[in-house]
Amino acid sequence: MSFRMRTGFFLQTRTGCGSTTGPVSRVLKYCNSRSLAVVPQGGNTGLVGGSVPVFDEVIINMASMKNVVSFDKVSGILVCEAGCILENLISFLDNQGFVMPLDLGAKGSCQIGGNVSTNAGGLRLVRYGSLHGNVLGIEVVLANGDVLDMLGTLRKDNTGYDLKHLFIGSEGSLGIITKVSILTPPKLSSVNLAFLACKDYSSCQKLLLEAKRRLGEVLSAFEFLDNQSLDLVLNHLEGVRNPLPPSMHNFYALIETTGSDESYDKEKLEAFLLRSMEGGLISDGVLAQDINQASSFWRIREGVAEALMKAGAVYKYDLSLPVEKMYNLVEEMRIRLGDSSKVIGYGHLGDGNLHLNISTPQYDDMILAQIEPFVYEWTSKHRGSISAEHGLGLMKANKIFYSKSRESVQLMASIKKLMDPNGILNPYKVLPHSLSYS
Ligand code: FAD
Ligand code: MLT
Ligand code: ZN
Repeated sequence: MSFRMRTGFFLQTRTGCGSTTGPVSRVLKYCNSRSLAVVPQGGNTGLVGGSVPVFDEVIINMASMKNVVSFDKVSGILVCEAGCILENLISFLDNQGFVMPLDLGAKGSCQIGGNVSTNAGGLRLVRYGSLHGNVLGIEVVLANGDVLDMLGTLRKDNTGYDLKHLFIGSEGSLGIITKVSILTPPKLSSVNLAFLACKDYSSCQKLLLEAKRRLGEVLSAFEFLDNQSLDLVLNHLEGVRNPLPPSMHNFYALIETTGSDESYDKEKLEAFLLRSMEGGLISDGVLAQDINQASSFWRIREGVAEALMKAGAVYKYDLSLPVEKMYNLVEEMRIRLGDSSKVIGYGHLGDGNLHLNISTPQYDDMILAQIEPFVYEWTSKHRGSISAEHGLGLMKANKIFYSKSRESVQLMASIKKLMDPNGILNPYKVLPHSLSYS
């Protein structure tokens, strides 16, 4: 089945005839032999334009490869096709008494193949680590159509170079992932979530340090948002309300714990909250009383991206920075832009990942010129990363040098040339255009 869609040709992987890797392989073989460019596409939720065609590329959408291949209840190893929607995998595992080591706001649409290809971070990285640790194996189709079976289910395997890591986070530029094997932890019975207010950023930082020290073994998320982010959510998303009485708090933190002993875990969190309140790190807070209240707290944090899209134009930056410096950038940006825009900061504080977003009524080149290259130079000066978790895609490919040396980028380009000599896989993405075709 194929049909035309906007700029590119759209091909969907088919199910029903056993393996669906075969057709992906045949399409790539054909495209490679005729130097036709392709764009691998998952749920299309990426935030850097990686999954959209630029000119006339063939889109290979993975949506139909949505089967769970196997699940081993003893080891917790899940093997599934790349087009499985993350939320479906979360539900599948929940029924088996396990959890996905990855969760993010786009879970209802994004696919595991897209998650692995972007090395997505999300809300629980502070607990389970990155996909480089959790993905045990992948099956991938190379540019020439060859199928590389690296679908291992071993926790330890030091036989030569671990090639799967090349594909994790390569954003479809080195191959198309068709299957994934992933290690999933058992579901624990007690999950607690607190929504807290802090008077300033310094208190948020101290709270994070204390949470790591005192909640260490049960801490499963530490997220933050500033009051400007909360205002956006309250103003643009229906049915969302502030769980705390209206008062002028500058920052909010969500702290989640996950453990195996309900009374012990709750007591531990309550003692931590009391101590933090007495020490002045928290100015107000509420502990979710049930799963519905917990979902309403998460809705606030996960809803920031959606609220921004509803508010108008948005300039998005996804930065890794030293936690102590991170919020200075938001404040400096506010001073630079004055009243012309809303500058907000939120993100995965536990991972040192700031989402700096600038919301304006419409896109304006003058505003962009005030933001860039300043934001990239600032990040580079503090030895941060200009893409913590979203990838480079189309929008940030040419910015790579702010975070990587010329030598590293040159080596990446050589690897790309070796694996995709005709440059058919996701052109114009990840690597700067000048290098990917040299
Ligand atoms: P797509 O957007 O379809 O593709 C992303 C990239 O991967 C493209 O370059 C594409 O070519 C490539 N690709 C897709 N599938 C394959 C495949 N099978 N083989 C090879 N290449 C492939 N990201 C985070 O990291 N953390 C977050 O917390 C987070 N929250 C988000 C919240 C919202 C509301 C939204 C809209 C996005 C969020 N994202 C987040 C970004 C995005 O959801 C992730 O990058 C996600 O992993 C993309 O998955 P996808 O299936 O939609 O991939
Ligand atoms: C998030 O953490 O909410 C996402 O990465 C989306 C975003 O950055 O807006
Ligand atoms: Zn994020």
